[in-house]
Formats: sequence, structure tokens, C-alpha cells
Amino acid sequence: MSQLYQRLLENNKTWVAKRIASDPDYFLRLSESQSPKFLWIGCSDSRVPANEITGTEAGDVFVHRNIANMVVHSDMNLLSVLDYAVNVLKVRHVIVCGHYGCGGVKAAMGNSNIGIIDNWIRHIKDVYRFHYRELDAIEDEKVKFDRFVELNVVEQVMDLAKTSIVQGAWNKEQDLWIHGWVYDIRNGLVKDLEVNFGSNEELPDVYKLEII
Ligand code: CO
Repeated sequence: MSQLYQRLLENNKTWVAKRIASDPDYFLRLSESQSPKFLWIGCSDSRVPANEITGTEAGDVFVHRNIANMVVHSDMNLLSVLDYAVNVLKVRHVIVCGHYGCGGVKAAMGNSNIGIIDNWIRHIKDVYRFHYRELDAIEDEKVKFDRFVELNVVEQVMDLAKTSIVQGAWNKEQDLWIHGWVYDIRNGLVKDLEVNFGSNEELPDVYKLEII
């Protein structure tokens, strides 16, 4: 076994010792329950760790990550996480956080046949199709890529609003907000896209559900 791998287990012991030294009840407290106020839907990219970039701790953020931070309505994993976060944990904010330089979004701009992932990437290509007038008009490939990342986040926020889970919570007047962010891996800063929804009012009528 490699030293690289063993290092993680060593790091874990060091971390536990440090935690206990500064807060003897840290693990006891966390082991009793969790009541995070945030659900994070982010990219699997190793450079975008939810807790680190938001200065939050274990217990603060319920996390779901997949390639290109997608909200796909047939994804049971996403739906289960969302349902649990909204209806059981009663988080107050759901944040979709994309990031510039996202490999999934980059792949969606091209035509490579990569494998099974093509079927996942296709959902991102749909975002391009919705916004092709704006995106095709951008000549600079880097600017276009950055804008595509942003538009993908906006569409995922809209997709969250379309779910029966989020609309059901709003229907019960649960205090639930959904937001779209983009993390800049070049400087560490988060850009708030200011797509903040706390009701289904912004949704086109066809998506509004009459939830009883
Ligand atoms: Co990514």
C-alpha cells in the first residue's frame, strides 16, 4: 500500500487529536444529531470543497455532488437528498454551486464521444440549446465557457424550483430559498448569480404544480 494512501489515515488521527484538544465535546455533540441549515448541490470536482470555501464546519451543510452540479429530475440520488434535506432536516437554503473551468460543462461544449458520461453531459447540452443565441454570439471561447457555466447554474436552480419537493415546501409556506453561485477556481471567490427564489412565482405556468 502506498504512503500516499496511508497518509490519509495518519491525517485523520492528527485531526481528531487537534479537534479534541480545542473542543473536548466536539464529537460527542456532533454524534447526537445534525441540523444543517444549508443543502449544497455542487460539482464533484476535487477543487470545490463545500465546507472549506464557505468557512463552515461539519454539521453545517448537507451535501450532494455530481458532475457539473446537475439537478436531473429522474436522478433518484438527487431527489432523495433533496427530499430528506427539505422535508426532514428542513434546511432553509439550497445552493447550487457551479465553478468556472468545469470539465463537465467544457465537455458539453464539444462533440467528443466519451462513454456513458455522454448521457449525463447531454443534460448540460440542453442548457446550451436553451441559450444558444446568447452563447453562439460570444466569440471568445473562454468568455463563452464562463457564461455557459453560469447559465448552467441558473437552469439547475430553475430545475430545483420545478421539483414537486421544492414546490410542496413552498406550498406549505416553509421558509425555503434556492440560490445559484459560481465558484472561481482561479481566485477562490464565489460569485452570487442572484437567482434567489422563495416561491414558485417566477416559474412559467406550465411548471406550477397544484399541490394539495
Ligand atoms: Co465541475
